[in-house]
Amino acid sequence: MSADKLLTLVAMVWLAGLSASAQEPSTATESAGFSGYADAPAFSVVPRKDELEFYPCKQCHEFMQPDATVRELRSPHEITLEHGADRFWCLACHHLENRNALRSAMGEAVDFEDAYLVCGGCHANRQKDWYYGAHGKRVANWRGQRQIYNCTHCHNAHKPGIEPRAPKPSPGVRAGLERADRDPHKKEKLWERHPSQEQSAASDEQ
Ligand code: HEC
Ligand code: HEC
Ligand code: HEC
Ligand code: HEC
Repeated sequence: MSADKLLTLVAMVWLAGLSASAQEPSTATESAGFSGYADAPAFSVVPRKDELEFYPCKQCHEFMQPDATVRELRSPHEITLEHGADRFWCLACHHLENRNALRSAMGEAVDFEDAYLVCGGCHANRQKDWYYGAHGKRVANWRGQRQIYNCTHCHNAHKPGIEPRAPKPSPGVRAGLERADRDPHKKEKLWERHPSQEQSAASDEQ
């Protein structure tokens, strides 16, 4: 093959690559807005994208017209939003055109792995605590760069309140010993043991 034919071929492959990437807009986070606190210790987030049932969203949405009309969705998204007390809808967090991406308060595309940037748009105080380690959980790398859980690891974005759960049973006692009966709920209440003066005066009158 002559040199200029090879060049043309290289150029064609390169152009094909370009148009493929144009059809598949990157989901990488565009960060024109907030990009973290400079003095917060470095971290990486435990990835979650692989756990999403519907990702990549373009499997279906590539063939659909984006529809911003606020409405109750049919299959496959029978999601009841229990977040924001009806003040916002899906598109507060999901990008309308680039469906494989989330969306920041400024309308920038945010990768699903960077969901904490979306949450922080409305929960900046909580997010700041998280950046500095006072909210959330560090899971690896006690020295060096921390690895931490994303907000979505613990909070369901569509229903973010943490569900109450039953407490774990207390640890067993050593062989030969009996568990002391220390259930605080069975005991006489403090105010029953020490009635206030008004209460004792009232019971004197009876
Ligand atoms: C199996 C196909 C399928 C997949 C995969 C899918 N969707 Fe959808 N999506 C739909 C259909 C169908 C509708 C329209 C439902 C309606 O109008 O009631 C829809 C509607 C929506 C809407 C409402 C806005 C609009 O443009 O209609 C949002 C937001 C949405 N999807 C987000 C997502 C996200 C985010 C993902 C990926 C995590 C995803 N979808 C993956 C089928 C899919
Ligand atoms: C407060 C922001 C927010 C709102 C509002 C919101 N989402 Fe999401 N959604 C997210 C985030 C963040 C994720 C990624 C969750 C994760 O990592 O587990 C997600 C995940 C999803 C997924 C993928 C779930 C999976 O397991 O594959 C679908 C589909 C989806 N959202 C659709 C919707 C639809 C439809 C609405 C409106 C009815 C909506 N979302 C409203 C933030 C939001
Ligand atoms: C567009 C603004 C907005 C975004 C984005 C947003 N939230 Fe919220 N969130 C709210 C509002 C408003 C409330 C209070 C109303 C309510 O309780 O739903 C709230 C409530 C909450 C609560 C308390 C819920 C409860 O039941 O006590 C949690 C936890 C929460 N959000 C977590 C998140 C997480 C995690 C994200 C990112 C995936 C996120 N939020 C993104 C606006 C937002
Ligand atoms: C390791 C798990 C974990 C991670 C990660 C996490 N949270 Fe939380 N978050 C909690 C728990 C537990 C609570 C307390 C819930 C309760 O009291 O019902 C909470 C409480 C909250 C509340 C207050 C809810 C209320 O009722 O006042 C908000 C808002 C919130 N988180 C947002 C976030 C945001 C934003 C992120 C990411 C930047 C995040 N969380 C990361 C576990 C987590």
